Amino acid sequence: MLSQDENLWYKDAVIYQLHVRTFCDSNGDGVGDFRGLTSKLDYLQELGINAIWLLPFFPSPLRDDGYDIADYTSVHPAYGSLQDFKDFLAAAHSRRLRVITEMVVNHTSDQHPWFQEARSSRENPKRDWYVWSDTDSRYQGVRIIFIDTEMSNWAWDPVSKSYYWHRFFSHQPDLNYDNPAVREAIWEVMKFWLDIGVDGFRLDAVPYLIERDGTSCENLPETHEVIRDFRKRIDLAYAGKMLLAEANQRPADVRSYFGNGDEFHMAFHFPLMPRMFLAVKLEDRKPIIEILEQTPQIPDTCQWCIFLRNHDELTLETVTDIERDYMYDEYAVDKAMRINLGIRRRLAPMMENDRRRVELLTGLLLSMPGTPIIYYGDEIGMGDNVYLGDRNGVRTPMQWNGGWNAGFSSADPERLYSPLISNPVYGYQAINVDSQTRSAHSLLSWTKSVIQTRNAFRVFSRGSIEFLNPSNHRVLAYVRCLGEEKVLVVNNLSSSAQAVELNLQSYKKHIPIEMFGRNLFPRVGDLPYLLTLGPYQFYWFRLRRI
Ligand code: GLC
Repeated sequence: MLSQDENLWYKDAVIYQLHVRTFCDSNGDGVGDFRGLTSKLDYLQELGINAIWLLPFFPSPLRDDGYDIADYTSVHPAYGSLQDFKDFLAAAHSRRLRVITEMVVNHTSDQHPWFQEARSSRENPKRDWYVWSDTDSRYQGVRIIFIDTEMSNWAWDPVSKSYYWHRFFSHQPDLNYDNPAVREAIWEVMKFWLDIGVDGFRLDAVPYLIERDGTSCENLPETHEVIRDFRKRIDLAYAGKMLLAEANQRPADVRSYFGNGDEFHMAFHFPLMPRMFLAVKLEDRKPIIEILEQTPQIPDTCQWCIFLRNHDELTLETVTDIERDYMYDEYAVDKAMRINLGIRRRLAPMMENDRRRVELLTGLLLSMPGTPIIYYGDEIGMGDNVYLGDRNGVRTPMQWNGGWNAGFSSADPERLYSPLISNPVYGYQAINVDSQTRSAHSLLSWTKSVIQTRNAFRVFSRGSIEFLNPSNHRVLAYVRCLGEEKVLVVNNLSSSAQAVELNLQSYKKHIPIEMFGRNLFPRVGDLPYLLTLGPYQFYWFRLRRI
């Protein structure tokens, strides 16, 4: 039995997000696999992360990179066998790394046997596992998510001569959660992976589980009821396992997915993410403070998950039209960088390869409230390839070294599942793990040391946040507090040097100790506390009482 506090492991986690196929190919077929990933666990352990989130690795036609599942309970043969997954899991657990996998609950692939049966005839018992209609006019007005590829949320099925409902690609029919058999079947899938030993699930696309006439078909009370039911079952038989919600919604709507601590343990903070990028471009702290002030409190056992980049586009669904235009103008001038309502780029290229800005954003990610997620490759500043189509440009092979195929695979380069990044700035000859491991001053070495610092102080994962309000708006300053543990974080969001006077009257008689160099700064006295910061510079101070 885990202790009560150990059950809250997700609150203190630093999560690393990766796709098996992008990470390391052990058998030379050009595709990453579980054996390859297992061989890289030492790297992940040394990085200091303590949980791994795996993108879907199940059998799939791969028309949405595996989010189109054709079989929930086995492993895509290109990535290995179920035994390879179990070996990976055991190896991760022996290093005290938790593993979070995907539960794509909203839809399946149209190749899934359930859908094949459902479409085979209107009388088939599986018919009602999906959402059918004789017309495509039901649920009018429900927004389309993949606006670049889909014209409607209905698709025509020529086999059974009717329409089926899909919120994403038309090859991903939505499951019908009004049917109890569907809930049971999905619960069986969860049990399958929980019994194997996974530590938690990211539930994909949760707002869309239930449809009702005359509504937006998002965040409906019935959807919450489905989630509560799953959660109850988890609590009964699988204490210590975690559910993470992918609900790309405004803070108040996402808040509802925590319920009274009886729905999700964690949810992504989607609206915060673009506002971090906005703040750095505008050189103003307002977007960050505003969104965090609008973010409702969550139950004690819950936690936000925060991130800078992931495998999808940087979604701009939760910003205003003006903010979206500004983000496009500043971060995606080339139209090829845009997809749907977002920007398909990685962190380093968005920061124009400016190490100071990458560090500033990573510092924010690791010091603001929530469990941070690092997207594979961002710890070395990998680039992207916006010409690869869909979101594939941010899913290229991990760059391990400057040799053959970046050390990712021994296959012929033509055989790789995706071309490598090979331009002179971000290419694997310039950006790779091997060379950055050798340099104490590389982005990788820097990232390791910040993660280490974060892991050493629980205040980062569990503490409260209080924003200071200095007159210089280019500076974002906050105090994180957990009992006697107090940390002051001061960020210069601008490209020029700044001075700031902080009102630290509540921390009189404290000495700020800079956390990376462990040097003492002048103690807090009666006067405003004066600091100067270089362009994009930030400080983390422990506040020690004298
Ligand atoms: C989620 C995934 C995304 C996928 C979509 C449809 O939003 O993050 O990659 O395309 O679901 O499954």
